[in-house]
This record gives sequence, C-alpha cells and structure tokens, in this order.
Amino acid sequence: MKSFGSKPWILPQPVLIIGTYDKDGNANAMNAAWGGQWDMHEIVISLGSHQTTDNLKDNSEFTVAFATTETLVAADYVGIVSGRKEPEKMKKTGWTVEKAPNVNAPVFKELPMTMECRVKEKIDESETGYYLVADIVNILCDEQYLAADGNPDVEKMNIITYDPVHHIYIQLGKVVGKAYSDGKRLK
Ligand SMILES: Cc1cc2nc3c(=O)[nH]c(=O)nc-3n(C[C@H](O)[C@H](O)[C@H](O)COP(=O)(O)O)c2cc1C
Repeated sequence: MKSFGSKPWILPQPVLIIGTYDKDGNANAMNAAWGGQWDMHEIVISLGSHQTTDNLKDNSEFTVAFATTETLVAADYVGIVSGRKEPEKMKKTGWTVEKAPNVNAPVFKELPMTMECRVKEKIDESETGYYLVADIVNILCDEQYLAADGNPDVEKMNIITYDPVHHIYIQLGKVVGKAYSDGKRLK
C-alpha cells in the first residue's frame, strides 16, 4: 500500500450547487464538494467566504441541487467565478431560475433534484467561513427523473461526483447492489 499523508480525499464527493438570492433578489449559485448529510433532516456544508455567504447573511434560506453531466460546464463555472466579481455570472450559466416554492431561494430548472434548505447553525464562524448546518425543508425532483416507485431515480439523472485526487468529475454509474440487504448473505 502506498501512503499519501493527510489529504481531503473522502470519496466520492458530491457536486452541490448552492442557490441563494442577494438582498435585491438576484440569484447566485456556487459549487461545493465539502458537504453531506448531518442528521435525518439536516445537511452540513463547509463554506469559505463567498458571495453565497454574503447572501446568507441577509437571507438564511437557500437551495442545494446536484450537478449532472449535462450541467457540468456551468456547475464548474459557478465554482471558479464569484458573483462578487461577475455580475453576469448566472446569465453565463444559461440556467433557468425560478423561486423555490417553500424557501426564498432560487431553483435552477436544468438541475433535476433540489433541496430547499434553511440555515440552522453556523459553526466556527469567522471571516474565512464556517460550517453551515441547515434544515432540509423540502426536496423537489423533476418528474421525468422519478422511478417506478415514485421516488427520485439516481440512474436517470446522470449525477456527477467530484474526485479530489485528480480534480475531475465522474458520472455516477449503474446500480450494483441492495443496501441493508446484500450483506445478509454473509450472516
Ligand atoms: C469542484 C469544486 C468544489 C468546491 N467546493 C467548495 C466547498 O466545499 N466549499 C467552499 O466554500 N467553496 C467550494 N468551492 C469554491 C466555490 O464554489 C467558489 O469560490 C465560487 O466562486 C463561490 O461563488 P460565489 O462567490 O459566487 O458564492 C468549490 C469549487 C469547485 C470548482
């Protein structure tokens, strides 16, 4: 086994698109990989200092959507250009913006699944950022991406993950097993 020391290499990492409104109601999006489930109804995201965090000072509601192969270029773009510097940022993505039904935050219609969220806690807040813990208020999924059982079908969405080793995006593949089930064969 080769050793690599300490690196931020949890695999796979999500490609979360955080949607916020500024105080004038202009939409913004940013890319975040350092996030995950925190509790049954909560998520956590490690945030630096961004237009997004400026927006969250004025309005504690936001959306989190999952980037796809089809939206990859714009998803990466919102991760390398700040709304602080580029007023045309959202226009350049080409994404269709709609207000979320349950929170004061934008939904980007090209992204198949979106969580509507509300800030619950900012842990270790400083000028350089914080760990954002937020309640999941609701989840929206475009109906064309639903499975036969009525739930979101990950295989249909072409969701991408971030590989922090090579700084690349990888599309999720096929179903290979059943959780809480296949392991029973070894009981
Ligand atoms: C693949 C990728 C992952 C990123 N993950 C994070 C993250 O987890 N937390 C963070 O604060 N910034 C992250 N960023 C950087 C922000 O997306 C970037 O600074 C962005 O321009 C902020 O936009 P804003 O200033 O308009 O809010 C990531 C960028 C990329 C490309």
